[in-house]
Amino acid sequence: MSEIEPFRLHIFVCANKRDGRPACEDHGAKAALAQAKEALNALPAADREGVRLSAAGCLGRCAHGPVAVAYPAGEWISYASAEELTAFVLRAVKKD
Ligand code: FES
Repeated sequence: MSEIEPFRLHIFVCANKRDGRPACEDHGAKAALAQAKEALNALPAADREGVRLSAAGCLGRCAHGPVAVAYPAGEWISYASAEELTAFVLRAVKKD
């Protein structure tokens, strides 16, 4: 088994859609993720080193959607706008 280096910060943004049931993509999660990715990619490469921002399937917090979570801190956000998700991502990058 090979050793896999962990990311220093890994943020998962739920982009899930569920048939007939509330889901994060009902609130524009994919568009919010795209905006957050753009802001992240605009940072200097050194700031983004070891940072991963990933689209995720259901994170099991559908009632709070749209949601995202940042590891290793395990900090959650239920965001109201793409700007709020972007601010969460940029704050997490600066914190870690
Ligand atoms: S659909 Fe997003 S947490 Fe379940």
